[in-house]
Amino acid sequence: MTSLLVTGGAGFIGSNFILYFLEKYSNYRLINLDKLTYAADLSYLKSVENDPRYVFIQGDIRDAALVQKLFRDYDIRGVLHFAAESHVDNSIRGPEIFIETNIKGTFTLLEAARAHWFESPQKPRAGYEHCRFHHVSTDEVYGSLGETGFFREDTPYAPNSPYSASKAGSDFLVRAWHHTYGLNTVITNCSNNYGPHQHAEKLIPTIIRKALAGEPIPIYGDGKNVRDWLYVRDHCSGLDLAFHKGKAGETYNIGGRNERNNLEIAHTITALLQELAPPSSRGLTVAHYRDLITFVPDRPGHDRRYAIDATKIETELGWRANENFETGIRKTVAWYLERWADKKS
Ligand SMILES: NC(=O)c1ccc[n+]([C@@H]2O[C@H](COP(=O)([O-])OP(=O)(O)OC[C@H]3O[C@@H](n4cnc5c(N)ncnc54)[C@H](O)[C@@H]3O)[C@@H](O)[C@H]2O)c1
Repeated sequence: MTSLLVTGGAGFIGSNFILYFLEKYSNYRLINLDKLTYAADLSYLKSVENDPRYVFIQGDIRDAALVQKLFRDYDIRGVLHFAAESHVDNSIRGPEIFIETNIKGTFTLLEAARAHWFESPQKPRAGYEHCRFHHVSTDEVYGSLGETGFFREDTPYAPNSPYSASKAGSDFLVRAWHHTYGLNTVITNCSNNYGPHQHAEKLIPTIIRKALAGEPIPIYGDGKNVRDWLYVRDHCSGLDLAFHKGKAGETYNIGGRNERNNLEIAHTITALLQELAPPSSRGLTVAHYRDLITFVPDRPGHDRRYAIDATKIETELGWRANENFETGIRKTVAWYLERWADKKS
């Protein structure tokens, strides 16, 4: 059984990934290292908590002694690095923890992998030649697009928020550890994910949560900021491909080819809620959930548009998204409706 270290596995994407991976493969043991910040929820992993192929360790990726011990104790042969501070609004209010977790934490993991897998720079220990470090990153490192164009793997980095700058910094560390030490790395930069397990603070859960509570649904600025939405399970299949088949030192962009602006998202969700859980069925007086949509002052430095060109992962690794936005958002709304059946705010 090959042991892989998954960091941040109790968060949104990491927990979806662990469930996807354990369902698909029987020959891996996943060691989930998660600090359990406000963004984590171990209940998502209830179905695997007694699975012998799954181990949970509560701890910080910046704790070098702990990370090194995990590499030794479990003889870690691969890393899937999800752990991060991930909310742009929080990074504007308090950037320091983003630098600590996203940059220092990534550095700590890279160093532990290098120590366990390498004898000296460019010289892996015998038997450790194929150990892979997969860094999960974001399309926000590329900055903002105008009305046209797409982010490609060769688009210059131009991060605009403390969050995206910290992710860009971590990407550069991973790149350097490949070039300098020969670490077998792969980086994936993906667009906005949505689906089950996303924290209530993010856009789509916020729209659902506020609507179900009959409260104003806040939309930044004019609501015309565009994101390219990727269903989380499609992201997991892309990660799986890049981890197993990606070329060492390469970057792959993963995006759903589903551009929507925030106002369109709010209209789609409120229409679905109107169909699946009409306000009257929840004791609300509002006639239609869309009447709750309220514009609020824009986020400082708010990037206008992100859109990914996923040609490289599609053509080189054969990846395809299974969901379009209409099918994915229906599944997502249904999941939150079940989870928040009695939610009041
Ligand atoms: N959600 C998206 O739309 C999106 C898009 C692009 C890239 N990403 C990237 O994907 C990764 C996962 O994102 P997510 O949305 O699942 O994030 P999330 O905020 O839902 O989860 C992050 C997890 O990391 C853990 N964590 C935070 N600091 C830690 C530390 N110091 N040590 C150990 N664990 C720690 C948290 O407890 C949490 O479980 C992140 O690296 C993020 O930058 C996310």
